[in-house]
Amino acid sequence: MKILVAGGAGYIGSHTVKGLIQEGFEVTVFDNFSTGRKELLVGGELVVGDLMDKKSIKNALMSKNIKAVIHFASLIQVGESYENPKKYYTHNLISSLNLLDAMLEADIKNFIFSSSAAVYGVPQQIPIPESHPLNPFNPYGQTKYFIEKILQDYERAYGLKFISLRYFNAAGADSEGRLGELHNPETHLIPNILLFLLGKKENFDLFGTDFPTEDGTAVRDYVHVTDLAQAHVLAFKEILTSSKSEFINLGANKGYSVLEVIKKTEEITGKKVQYKEKPRREGDVPVLLASKEKAEQILGWELCFSSIETIIETAWNWHKKNLKN
Ligand code: UFG
Repeated sequence: MKILVAGGAGYIGSHTVKGLIQEGFEVTVFDNFSTGRKELLVGGELVVGDLMDKKSIKNALMSKNIKAVIHFASLIQVGESYENPKKYYTHNLISSLNLLDAMLEADIKNFIFSSSAAVYGVPQQIPIPESHPLNPFNPYGQTKYFIEKILQDYERAYGLKFISLRYFNAAGADSEGRLGELHNPETHLIPNILLFLLGKKENFDLFGTDFPTEDGTAVRDYVHVTDLAQAHVLAFKEILTSSKSEFINLGANKGYSVLEVIKKTEEITGKKVQYKEKPRREGDVPVLLASKEKAEQILGWELCFSSIETIIETAWNWHKKNLKN
């Protein structure tokens, strides 16, 4: 059973490729290495190509007997999307349209999409169910929202079947220490704390201490990347047999504040995290927490690695091993 993974050399993509290969599926990774990294590839066939180039994706899909596509390849920095919305709308939308167009031409109708909790905007209800109104407030979240709308139209008009997976806060690294998180620039909380502890960042800034939460810092739902990867494997199996498209949250339904994450990291690493208090980052909401019932019911998803301790321990192991020098 063959699957093409666009953006398979990235953080969540590479963990998913590993999971798919472990389950015996044949994987083709399609990546332009703009943010993906060769050392995160654990196997499968590699096609170096860019989704902005329609031809290269068409060639990759036409020549193989591919049953489904997982689409990870996107720009993901919320802050940058405010400053440069053109870049985000152009890249995220056109690359996705090219991919969908090529799929339809190759008569491939199964699509698994990396969406985001950013489609919800400011939550009106916690935990957030998939039926929550969609009101993204940054261009990054808007691109995910627009693509979800496009998918619904393509389903109606062309019979495309999709599962849109709305990630909450992906974190952690694989237990063997082979794959981990490294963005450039890094904007995420846990890697930023670890980079600071390893001397790779001069400062660690804590953004926002006046949120309406218990300790004043923002609460997030951290989910281990290996659990996220497993959800994609389950989604692939589901989409091959089911006739229904779905939107599914992927979160652990457990919230930790920034200060709680700092404290846990200090316990696990045995190091003191010195931080500078800074104003809130634009667009940060006080609390994000997923309802995960739908993922459990439809995909049979079980969380095996998403305790905050395992998330920080695996991330720390990977960072120490790969970024010490
Ligand atoms: N934070 C800091 N210091 C840092 C980095 C982050 O204090 O150096 C804070 C942020 O301000 C936020 C919390 O830690 O309050 C978590 O921040 P992350 O950047 O790790 O994650 P976000 O919740 O901002 O972003 C995630 C995904 C995005 C998605 C967003 C909303 O990474 O892709 O959730 O769904 F858009």
